[in-house]
Amino acid sequence: MTHKQKYLKFIDDLLSGEEGFKLIFSKPRKEIEARSETIEIILDNKVRSAQSVKRTLTQHFTSVIELKDLKLYLDTCINDHYFYCEIFSGLGNAVLLQNNKGTTTFIQKKQTTTIHAKSHNKKKDYAISEDAPFLRELGLSSTQGKVYEQSQKKYRQINKFIEIVQGLLPPSKDLWHIADMGCGKAYLTFALYHYIAEVLDKNVIITGYDIRPELIAQCNDIAQKLGYKNLSFKQANIEETILPPTDLLIALHACDIATDMAIYQGIVSGAHTIVVAPCCHKQIRKQIQLRNGILKHGILLERTAEMVTDAIRSLILEDHGYKSKIFEFINTEHTQKNTMIAAQKIKRNENAAIEIKDIKENYGIHFHYLEKLVEKSY
Ligand SMILES: C[S@@+](CC[C@H](N)C(=O)[O-])C[C@H]1O[C@@H](n2cnc3c(N)ncnc32)[C@H](O)[C@@H]1O
Repeated sequence: MTHKQKYLKFIDDLLSGEEGFKLIFSKPRKEIEARSETIEIILDNKVRSAQSVKRTLTQHFTSVIELKDLKLYLDTCINDHYFYCEIFSGLGNAVLLQNNKGTTTFIQKKQTTTIHAKSHNKKKDYAISEDAPFLRELGLSSTQGKVYEQSQKKYRQINKFIEIVQGLLPPSKDLWHIADMGCGKAYLTFALYHYIAEVLDKNVIITGYDIRPELIAQCNDIAQKLGYKNLSFKQANIEETILPPTDLLIALHACDIATDMAIYQGIVSGAHTIVVAPCCHKQIRKQIQLRNGILKHGILLERTAEMVTDAIRSLILEDHGYKSKIFEFINTEHTQKNTMIAAQKIKRNENAAIEIKDIKENYGIHFHYLEKLVEKSY
């Protein structure tokens, strides 16, 4: 039996069974808007139903699939829409990997997953469950695995971040290298490690970098306590760090130009995906010379500086072969600093340099920190 036939038989067995199961499709075959799609076959009071959640870079779209259409729907997903499929079921978990040369690999794992019924009144199903041990070690949940009331916002923020990263994961390979620049107390670093290594069961090495030695020591202790052997933390100034070849680089709320340093490190380490949530934007603000009726107001000058800084960051990424998007990643209930730049090495924007020049001329800017950094690598 070929690998594809084994996969189809596995799906047939699941469809003819009576249990719930889940499939996560990713790695789109062509430019479709969805980055990934999760299909859950849920068993509630012995009745099955099927639901799809498609994830674009910024949104989720949920729909119901008629059971009679399910087989055809799943065939279309794997033949026409996606290269990659992960299956979680009571019969065992499995992965189907395909490439554009037609090579197919199907791997079955012994580990099984029970898919529980969902009710409409149920609390949102988060990628990171409340009883994940790292939440307890970071002081966000109790020993009974319940997230404290005062930590609920942080918990939702962590899950929102993981939801976004789910749709941005780099192409599948045996081992991913991930760097988190300016990791701070590393809530998101631990969450990412837990999600990739323990939930997705993938091989990953994650390193968090921060300038503050006391945070690094604390995070290394917690990683050791949790037995997270491929998660470590290093004390370093982002600008001076030499990264190994990296697949995914993140930097969340790294202060002012530390975000530029992180993007620069992502570019030089060849990261396939770079995800940053900028913090304060002081560097450009001082230079903006367009003092008209709008920018005489401090708050509007500040917002303009943010927009201009991030637009130039995004264009510099595009000039270096990345397709980039800027979007709001979490609502302002959590933080005012809610802009995210996500870039994937897919295609260069040939006009990016001209667009940067235009913006700089319009706003009287002579110096963007990231531009200076990347000049070094030309
Ligand atoms: C606001 S905290 C964000 C922490 C974490 N990324 C998060 O989102 O929860 C910013 C962190 O960046 C670190 N940082 C700022 N500039 C840095 C630099 N040049 N090199 C390394 N770390 C830096 C700070 O020490 C701080 O821990």
